[in-house]
Amino acid sequence: MRKQIAAANWKMNLTYTEGQQLLAGILENDLGSKENHEVIFAVPFPYLIMAKEKTTTLKNYYIAAQNCSNKKSGAYTGEVSVDMLDSIHIKHCIIGHSERREYFGETNQVLAEKVNLLLEKDMTPIFCCGESLDIREANTQNSFVETQLKESLFHLSAEDVQKVVIAYEPIWAIGTGKTASTEQAQEMHAHLRSVLAAQYGADVANEISILYGGSVKANNAKEIFASPDVDGGLVGGASLVALDFIEIIKALK
Ligand code: G3H
Repeated sequence: MRKQIAAANWKMNLTYTEGQQLLAGILENDLGSKENHEVIFAVPFPYLIMAKEKTTTLKNYYIAAQNCSNKKSGAYTGEVSVDMLDSIHIKHCIIGHSERREYFGETNQVLAEKVNLLLEKDMTPIFCCGESLDIREANTQNSFVETQLKESLFHLSAEDVQKVVIAYEPIWAIGTGKTASTEQAQEMHAHLRSVLAAQYGADVANEISILYGGSVKANNAKEIFASPDVDGGLVGGASLVALDFIEIIKALK
């Protein structure tokens, strides 16, 4: 049974103390997660060790980095390598968030390099894809997102691709309060799964969790997550409020 995942992406928000308080507020309501559920907190780099320590004894709770370098090591001032994350026992990392693609020029090719480095260390890449409003309005979102997958993931073996979590995040729905309708989300998730099935076979495609991201809130999560190909969410704004994120965790199938 594939994993149902509630992933919080704090982005560049919260002081250290605020981060500690937010985590405490969520974890004290220990939700006793179900066997096929995972809860992931993608926190800023300086908070990784603190967050890891707070969740270390909890089953199915994980801490993720929000990014990693596509270089192994060396003279890359300001970068954080996969080996560094591995050395502090971080097992998940978001890559290719649309904000990284847009503001920091990340390409599908660079993301393929990041995927390789993460998988070498047995870490889980949370690979983001999704189209802009222009692309949606031109009705070319399916081929656009398919290219993102092909260029960053399709060099992987069937065994390795199953270690990747995919997050579909339509850019026009991120931080805008405008979610994709449940039909739009299900349609794209089914498309992504069919693209994976065409390359790797249905059995492999059925093992891959595909999260939805873009204005997931406490009051819409249940409806969005109910769709058969939506395996939870990657949540920005609503993950910064303990009670809201708790509701989102509870909304997992
Ligand atoms: O990584 C999370 C997404 O960018 C969604 O952000 O929930 O604030 O729209 P949002």
